[in-house]
Amino acid sequence: MTDTYLNLVNSGFTKKLAKQLGLPRPAVLRRHRPGAPLVPGPVLVLHDDASDPDADALATRLLEWDLDVRRHATGDDRFGAVVVVLTEAATPEALSAPMLALGPVLKRLAPGGRVVTVSRPAASAGSAAAAATRQGVDGALRSLAKELRGGATGNGIVVADGVPVTAPSVAGALHFLLSGRSAYVDGQLLPVTSDAGTLPADPDRPLDGRVAVVTGAARGIGAAIARVLARDGATVVVVDVPAAGDALAKVANEVRGSALQLDITADDAATRLLQHVRSRHGRLDVVVHNAGITRDKLLANMTAEKWDPVVGVNVVAPMRITQGLLDAGALGDGSRVVCLASTSGIAGNRGQTNYAASKAGVVGFVAASAPALAQVGGTINAVAPGFIETDMTARIPFATREVARRLSSLQQGGQPVDVAETIAFLASPQAAGISGETLRVCGQNMVGR
Ligand code: NAI
Repeated sequence: MTDTYLNLVNSGFTKKLAKQLGLPRPAVLRRHRPGAPLVPGPVLVLHDDASDPDADALATRLLEWDLDVRRHATGDDRFGAVVVVLTEAATPEALSAPMLALGPVLKRLAPGGRVVTVSRPAASAGSAAAAATRQGVDGALRSLAKELRGGATGNGIVVADGVPVTAPSVAGALHFLLSGRSAYVDGQLLPVTSDAGTLPADPDRPLDGRVAVVTGAARGIGAAIARVLARDGATVVVVDVPAAGDALAKVANEVRGSALQLDITADDAATRLLQHVRSRHGRLDVVVHNAGITRDKLLANMTAEKWDPVVGVNVVAPMRITQGLLDAGALGDGSRVVCLASTSGIAGNRGQTNYAASKAGVVGFVAASAPALAQVGGTINAVAPGFIETDMTARIPFATREVARRLSSLQQGGQPVDVAETIAFLASPQAAGISGETLRVCGQNMVGR
């Protein structure tokens, strides 16, 4: 659905009026367009003293992408992005110089610009001082993201100790976070835990030759996922309940894939899915557990009729299907499982105990299943959307909806395509070093982390 307010404050007279009245002015986000530059201007690489070699390695990577890379903020150019390399920072004082160098540059960040920090995880730091430093990056990044304007975003890549910054998943994450594909990902820190992965032969079609299944794909976010995976080269099997059969067939035609009418809660769902995929396409590489439902009610008024189906569709079915596919040997080297969580599952939401239990369940399921997927050479991750403009959120009463939209750093809801782009990145060969994680696509919603 459309955000009329966003359109008004970005056009003519109403734009001026909103400025004069000091009203929130959400920017039109910089989203991926084929052929558009990766970033809207030169990229500045900053670092603390100790991280110089990693900064060199990342600057080299950026040059490979034909970017205009600068190591100093001289002149008065507007920057398209700033990459802040803090991998070797070992004392809280070490953050001072790079962060203070970054400050004035933020005013020169182009609309839709990006700030990306690259650091190491606090949990594995060798000393209390190093842990304080690494955790400090987390706080600084999340805060600076809240200060950015003009649709610019700030995100971090947290590279496990022992994994070089030249690892394919660091490159993949950096490319994704700089690009328009991550338009609605803001204030997030994405862990890379291994140097697995390969860079795609054709960066525009990273999923070439892969077969992907998307559940709940007749409309909304699921249909957007099917479109983006197909655009990235995958053959897509779209799945939805028989009642949504007509809409499902349309999506299947549009993406030149195949449609499977299936209730994912059916006992034989994994078997039927596998039969379809094997007979029609011969292989299975990507499974996106997107189908989901809400049955909101305050817990005081909750009934089994509202609780059980939500848990059944949102978490039990993805768990059973994933296990069924693993048992059948259908998930192997390079497999990708991506689930839909929700910020409600992370922060909690009034009237959604059932939904939040199911979506927090997805976060737990994904974290616990990473080793099983690693054993066969695959990954499993989740994305947690915040407020996304779909039929589901169109049903929220007007005033609540308007507040929910503005309560993020980007002051607007996301589009289904924003969730889809993030899933496509997690499904790509480059993302092999990211598993067990839940990445929020929420415009840095003020609710929760
Ligand atoms: P939607 O309600 O527009 O679409 C969900 C689709 O799943 C429908 O086509 C429906 O028929 C299908 N489905 C439901 N039960 C099914 C079953 N048993 N078997 C097969 N298909 C089934 O929902 P939307 O907004 O596109 O959400 C997609 C996913 O994203 C859901 O998991 C939802 O919980 C999650 N999400 C959505 C957010 C939003 O703001 N829209 C926010 C956070 C998470």
